[in-house]
Amino acid sequence: MRKKLVAGNWKMNKTADEGLALVSEVVNMVNAEVTAPVTVVLCPPALYLTTIKPYLTGSKLALGAQNCHEKAAGAYTGEISAPMLKSVGVEYVILGHSERRQYFGETNAQLAEKVNIALENGLTPIFCCGESQEMRENGDYVGFVKGQLTDSLFHLSAEQMANIVIAYEPIWAIGTGLTASSAQAQDMHYELRQHLAGKYGDGVAQNTSILYGGSANAQNAAELFSQPDVDGGLIGGASLKSRDFLTVVKAA
Ligand code: PGA
Repeated sequence: MRKKLVAGNWKMNKTADEGLALVSEVVNMVNAEVTAPVTVVLCPPALYLTTIKPYLTGSKLALGAQNCHEKAAGAYTGEISAPMLKSVGVEYVILGHSERRQYFGETNAQLAEKVNIALENGLTPIFCCGESQEMRENGDYVGFVKGQLTDSLFHLSAEQMANIVIAYEPIWAIGTGLTASSAQAQDMHYELRQHLAGKYGDGVAQNTSILYGGSANAQNAAELFSQPDVDGGLIGGASLKSRDFLTVVKAA
């Protein structure tokens, strides 16, 4: 049985005090109100990982980072490595977010390296994929997204693949308020699961959690998550408000 998962991606938001206030609220609410077996992951800015970690210890929440470098250590000023994340108790790492691809030039090949080093260090990658608006209107967008998986994940063994979470995030839906319909999400999630099955067999495909991301919120999460191949969400804007985030978690 694949697991339900909701991850909050704070992106570059919140000061230290604001971040701790939000974490306290979310931890209290999740502990008090969420009984279903859903994994909840918080991905704050890296600067706050160590201060937030103690708040999550003994709670139902896990800690995630928003990125890591593809090398283990060295002269890469300003970067953070997978071993560093592991050493402060991080369990998940978002890799290949479209903002990283778009603004920081991350390529499928580089992401394959990031996936490798994350797995080597016992981190679970939340691997993001998704097409642009232009691609959706004019191109083979399903083939494009499948290609992102092929290029960055399909070198992995089936055993390694079991430790990957996929997040389908159509770029046109991220932060735009323009959510994919539940049918659009389901169609792509189904295609991606078929793609996984083609490479790794049905067992791996059925066990891989595929999250939806892109303007998922308290209003639309239940409908999105009701789809058979949608296993939860990667949540940006709505993860910055505790009550909204809790509603999304409960929807999963
Ligand atoms: P959003 O962001 O929920 O604000 O659209 C999702 C994401 O980028 O992970």
